[in-house]
Amino acid sequence: MSSANPAPAQLAESLLAFWVDGGVDAMLLEDPVDRIAAGRILPPIRVAAPVTAAPAARAAPRQPDVSAAAAKAQALARAAPDLDALIAAIAAFEDCPLRFENSATQAVIYRGVVPAPLMIIGEAPGADEDAAGQPFVGRAGKLLDRMLAAAGLQDRVLITNTVFWRTPGNRTPTPAEQAVCAPFVERLIALARPQLLLLAGGAPAKALLKRDEGILSLRGRWHDWTSADGTLTLPALPTLHPAFLLRQPGAKKHAWADLLTLTDRLDRSDNPL
Ligand code: URA
Repeated sequence: MSSANPAPAQLAESLLAFWVDGGVDAMLLEDPVDRIAAGRILPPIRVAAPVTAAPAARAAPRQPDVSAAAAKAQALARAAPDLDALIAAIAAFEDCPLRFENSATQAVIYRGVVPAPLMIIGEAPGADEDAAGQPFVGRAGKLLDRMLAAAGLQDRVLITNTVFWRTPGNRTPTPAEQAVCAPFVERLIALARPQLLLLAGGAPAKALLKRDEGILSLRGRWHDWTSADGTLTLPALPTLHPAFLLRQPGAKKHAWADLLTLTDRLDRSDNPL
């Protein structure tokens, strides 16, 4: 038996390897940092210049200007006559604060049918969604698909998120990030013409309904969602996020009850007699 203790560097390496094996891909603080409120963003990682080189003139790092970005998103969304134009506008949009975070490789916009009787709005794309370019394709998405199939909804749904870019470490999107993407989400709703909205999780429920309560008190009851310009109002049902259901399987019964509430209303509006 060796009496030598491993060096601190070896210990750190072994701990990191253990975390990586366990699926950890980011190091985060306990609480999200709102870089907009803090008025600063992390500068991009730079390769150090050789010490002998003359200092290069640096472009000032791009700063997210949330009101300007939201106004620009609004103008672009309004000008998109159809879904293809909207998708192109979102994919080319560089002003969302999330585009400054280097956490996303592409825009993740929607999957499903158009027009769609039901539109599901989740929180934000995760790593699997960022890789695939489609929302809800990871573990939570697979659970969502199983629930939709069990409720007979799989061919009647369009699925999207409150923001179109992956957040750093999959944290909850900030209200500023959601506000910048909101005009695009609203245009998507207008183009997909759903009869009902299902808001999957606290982040979309709070953002779309402009409520402060937690998802556990909002879920399972119908609320009115109204577009920012007041021209469109739809019934919206908040429910538990499928990622929460993976962590708390005992809560699946509530999500299932919400889906039954939803299908009941959808079937009634499809067959008003
Ligand atoms: N969670 C979400 O809220 N959205 C996705 O697209 C994937 C996971």
